[in-house]
Amino acid sequence: MPTHDHESHGSPALHEPSAHANEAYKRAYAEAKPDLGRSVISIDLEAKEIDWTIAVGTTVKGWGLNGKVPGPTIEAMVGDVLEIRLTNHLTEPTVVHWHGLRIPAGMDGTQMVQRPVEPGSTFVYRFRLPDAGTFWYHSHYNEIVQLERGLYGALVVRSEDEPCFDHERVLIFDDIELEKDGKIKDPGGWIESHDGREGNTRLVNGKKEPQLTIAAGQIERWRIINAASARYVRLSIGGRPFRIIGTDGGLIGSPVTTTEVLLAPSDRVELAVGPFEKEETHRIETLPFNRGSFKAHKKPELFATLNVGQKAPSKTLVPDSLRWIEPLVTGPVAVSREVRLGFTLGLKHGVEFTINKEQHHRAEPVRVGELQVWDVVNRSPVHHPFHLHGFFFQILQINGKPPEFLSWEDTVNVPAFGSVRIVWMPDDRPGEWMYHCHILEHHEAGMMAHFDVVR
Ligand code: C2O
Ligand code: CU
Repeated sequence: MPTHDHESHGSPALHEPSAHANEAYKRAYAEAKPDLGRSVISIDLEAKEIDWTIAVGTTVKGWGLNGKVPGPTIEAMVGDVLEIRLTNHLTEPTVVHWHGLRIPAGMDGTQMVQRPVEPGSTFVYRFRLPDAGTFWYHSHYNEIVQLERGLYGALVVRSEDEPCFDHERVLIFDDIELEKDGKIKDPGGWIESHDGREGNTRLVNGKKEPQLTIAAGQIERWRIINAASARYVRLSIGGRPFRIIGTDGGLIGSPVTTTEVLLAPSDRVELAVGPFEKEETHRIETLPFNRGSFKAHKKPELFATLNVGQKAPSKTLVPDSLRWIEPLVTGPVAVSREVRLGFTLGLKHGVEFTINKEQHHRAEPVRVGELQVWDVVNRSPVHHPFHLHGFFFQILQINGKPPEFLSWEDTVNVPAFGSVRIVWMPDDRPGEWMYHCHILEHHEAGMMAHFDVVR
């Protein structure tokens, strides 16, 4: 169950802005005021090496937040102000990125906008939560080590008018590569830098292939986050139908019934699961998915087991309409930019991943209020999850076809040799932003770009 850690509701702000902060940060800090009647939620986050028990009798050295992996699930209401005091007890610097949140640039938690938090020091993030949905936070520094070792957690933001479920849970999917001696393997090898790491140990909420229980007759809301470095989760719950009710940017228009859903790295999805009729057991697994990697998947792989327990009464009625999403465009539009995902051969990683032929590309600025229609074109034989920081977009086309349903996203999979057309509106949050492939090894190797949002 989600927990609140070191948290105080409704208290005045406790912390001073971080000492050597830049102007953008100071402005954002000063502007972070809760909406009328809302709270300030103060949380201390401590990054530290921990003994991480992934299964009975199996403990590995991980890097946790507040002593655990995942870190605490942060829960809040739209309009609340989050105040996070991050203290670094690791042996290397870190920063924390708030994945999917539309917050000011100065709070984005990347090395573009802040200095890394050195071992022994503290940094305070403070921002207002603008949207309801399932988000996550994670290290944005030396990610192929820091995320792999566990520096991530969930952030759930609710609004008052959401449907009510019998039960709700957050499920963070991940995988790690354990060596024979039980240590998390250090990154390395050309296959890994090409494919990204797909670990040999699959985890849900930091536990290896756990058992979950749902009461027969009940309907639950599952908030699922794919925190894996490179693995695509083609999620199936024993082949049974479930309903998609939300994606990266919160609820969708109406529920979509399906038996599988694809989560690229960093994707979120919200599901209505159940009702199951009788006591039975289902595999929560990833079905084979070919993303063009060297390592192929031929068989389903287990993430968790779902035990359907005794029947219990249900009060859930999943409404036919969940919310209204206004399309950003209707009819034909002019493409304003092409973003080309590619690769070259290089010395450092073997394969060097690029954007517009450049590693760590510097892209043109965009202007506040000017609609952005981007074609993200994949010129490589592998899929790439494209992630835009700080703004939601809508998908217009995937390989020329409109998506199944309208949604707000911050990550979209761009198929091998395919393309995705997205549209987004830069609102008034000027500053430095970025987009990148969320396969951590590709991001590391340079498949990323920074750009300014200007007034
Ligand atoms: Cu999960 Cu640069 O982001
Ligand atoms: Cu990639």
